[in-house]
Amino acid sequence: MPVRALVVDPSASAAVRLAEVPDPVPGPTQVLVDVSHASLNYGDLNDARSGRVPVGAVLGSDAAGVVVQAAADGTGPAVGTQVVALTAGAFAARVAIDVGALAEVPKGVDLAEAAALPVAGVAALRSLRAAGLGPGKRVLVTGASGGVGRFAVQLAAQAGAHVIASVGSPARAEGLAATGADEVLIGLEGLQRPVDVVIDSVGGPQLVAAWNLLAPGGSVQSVGWTSGESAVFPPYATVGPAKSLTSFVIQGEVGEDLATLTELAAERALTVEIGWQGSWDRFDEAAEALRGRRISGKAVLELTSGELHVPVPSPQD
Ligand SMILES: NC(=O)c1ccc[n+]([C@@H]2O[C@H](COP(=O)([O-])OP(=O)(O)OC[C@H]3O[C@@H](n4cnc5c(N)ncnc54)[C@H](OP(=O)(O)O)[C@@H]3O)[C@@H](O)[C@H]2O)c1
Repeated sequence: MPVRALVVDPSASAAVRLAEVPDPVPGPTQVLVDVSHASLNYGDLNDARSGRVPVGAVLGSDAAGVVVQAAADGTGPAVGTQVVALTAGAFAARVAIDVGALAEVPKGVDLAEAAALPVAGVAALRSLRAAGLGPGKRVLVTGASGGVGRFAVQLAAQAGAHVIASVGSPARAEGLAATGADEVLIGLEGLQRPVDVVIDSVGGPQLVAAWNLLAPGGSVQSVGWTSGESAVFPPYATVGPAKSLTSFVIQGEVGEDLATLTELAAERALTVEIGWQGSWDRFDEAAEALRGRRISGKAVLELTSGELHVPVPSPQD
């Protein structure tokens, strides 16, 4: 039986439309999951327009729901287990998911919160780890009001770092101090003392400015580039005591890191801020709000099972 899904369609207003796709056929190391919640990432919006997800293919990376068929090889969770996953084609009512790409959702975490964790949480966790996070380090998080940013601020604070959160406007600073930011700045205004780590999701001129603030031995993790602007380094900006600018992307199995994040959420050591939640029928609204920088934290789509409205051809067609 076909399942409902959000597929890429360049002619649609947000380049995505609800459609029916074939029922997924799981491989031997995959479970079948009925997805109830999915989160929308900035990267999904890029994927819908860049061709990285082909026209007609299902969009999305973050899904949470219930296992309805266990993996044929006997690994992974049993039928009825609530799980969260980072998987291609997440925006579908039923998805076949590798057991290494998911984690069980512990008691006390609801599926909307769980769905918000995968891409943003794993990116924050892994980029901080790659940067060599440690107690007493000065960590700058740019785009701190967004999905990756809010998780990075909290995880860095828990590791004992001094956390500097950079946002675009005063309104976007809301809640950051309460979740662990020692300083909250508009852009990089007033920041003079060097930092040891930069988790950058903005790129452009702010990346160049952050590089200039980086202490010898420090690390900039280039996680994203929401500014869409070029970064122009002045002559000799990269000549001097060793420090690094490292590209970042999520690769390989994420199950263990997802389990870490869901446990932290269950212990309330990680707050999942959901700034927008609604039916996937309202995808365009969520996409516009995310692009318009009006969502604090994450946008979560509810995969409601309403009827699919297929236009009925008129007699003259
Ligand atoms: N490499 C990876 O594996 C990986 C994984 C996850 C995400 N990413 C990338 O990381 C970036 C952030 O993702 P996200 O999901 O956290 O996005 P998000 O929730 O939309 O947050 C992005 C933040 O960037 C800031 N921003 C947006 N447009 C901006 C602009 N024109 N100039 C300056 N700042 C701007 C906004 O903060 P203010 O409104 O406060 O300025 C916003 O809160 C994206 O580029 C995404 O593709 C990469």
